[in-house]
Amino acid sequence: MSDHAFATRAIHAGQEFDPTTGAIIPPIYQSSTHVQDGIGGFREGYEYNRAGNPTRSSLETQLAALEGGHAALSFASGLAAEDALLRGLLAPGDHVLLGNDVYGGTYRLLTKVLAPWGIQTTTVELADADVIRAALRPETKIVWLETPSNPLLKVIDIAQIAEIGHAAGAVVVVDNTFASPALQQPLSLGADLVVHSTTKYLGGHSDVLGGAVVFADDRFFEQVKFQQFAVGAVSAPLDAWLTTRGIKTLAVRMRQHSENAQAIAEWAAERPEFEQVFYPGLAAHPGHEVAARQMSGFGGMLSLALSAGPAAARAFAESTELFQLAESLGGVESLIGYPPEMTHASVRGTALAVPENVVRLSVGIEDVSDLIADLESGLQRVAR
Ligand SMILES: Cc1ncc(COP(=O)(O)O)c(C=O)c1O
Repeated sequence: MSDHAFATRAIHAGQEFDPTTGAIIPPIYQSSTHVQDGIGGFREGYEYNRAGNPTRSSLETQLAALEGGHAALSFASGLAAEDALLRGLLAPGDHVLLGNDVYGGTYRLLTKVLAPWGIQTTTVELADADVIRAALRPETKIVWLETPSNPLLKVIDIAQIAEIGHAAGAVVVVDNTFASPALQQPLSLGADLVVHSTTKYLGGHSDVLGGAVVFADDRFFEQVKFQQFAVGAVSAPLDAWLTTRGIKTLAVRMRQHSENAQAIAEWAAERPEFEQVFYPGLAAHPGHEVAARQMSGFGGMLSLALSAGPAAARAFAESTELFQLAESLGGVESLIGYPPEMTHASVRGTALAVPENVVRLSVGIEDVSDLIADLESGLQRVAR
């Protein structure tokens, strides 16, 4: 599969038809255990579903092919994947250098769950190479970044961070949830590991929770696989199957998400109601050049800062109709959120706090003229 183009890999990797019946779609193996041919005689290596399930294996093969990785592991949620990765690689006393604009749940996991077990975390501005070099310590084991970031769409130069991190002996992890592998493949830029909330663009239809770790090579696979097996936050067969189905349309969906978001960003940039538009597809965005270099499209996420302040931002988030007010992102339907009280409530008052006049849009693949009309109506309601 590795010699095929992305859209082809997304549809065919790990998706061989069922040899018994010829069913073109591999079945959902909704089974908790597998019969053994004598003690220890496992068919295709399958024994018990926490250790492995054929539907999960299909998804893992597909995920590895999408990111150009050596292997992948699929989990019950993005945070379950992050947790297994972090506990698999870290020991008490180790230090993590974290971008200062990452998903609030990643920060919470490190500082509230793992800190009491001896893991130290520092948040830094990863767009500044000197700041990173100064923050690296002998005990820094992981440099963790997200690009574009959530929710301010900051763009980080993956190749640059990989070089700096590796020179210091650290492992470089990229949360590729916002871009998806259709637009950005961090392993090819030097990252060691990729994590995903597959709940978002990979699943793509807001109907399933999941997460993944993708490995550039075999260095860390066994450690993380052991955490997955020993702790057990695996993806369920039906969830794995739904994610697999979503992935098959990823390439075409991401094209439309990007096209719609670009149109909305250009519209918003002309409106006085917004003092700032955060979208890497705009030439004025500070990360535009790096994004153009390391991404093949700018994605479906954008944030808007309301000129009239926090009250107007809250009201706007409650005033649209097609853009439904909800957590999450990456589905075919458009969503709007108010990060300070929703996705990023857990980092309010910390170094990762989001400006209080910002709303975040997950731009869906509806007709973009309907979406812009909806945003215009929202602005009119706020002005009334
Ligand atoms: C960028 C990013 N990473 C990780 C996660 C966590 O994923 P999950 O909600 O599937 O646990 C999220 C969730 O919103 C996210 O936006």
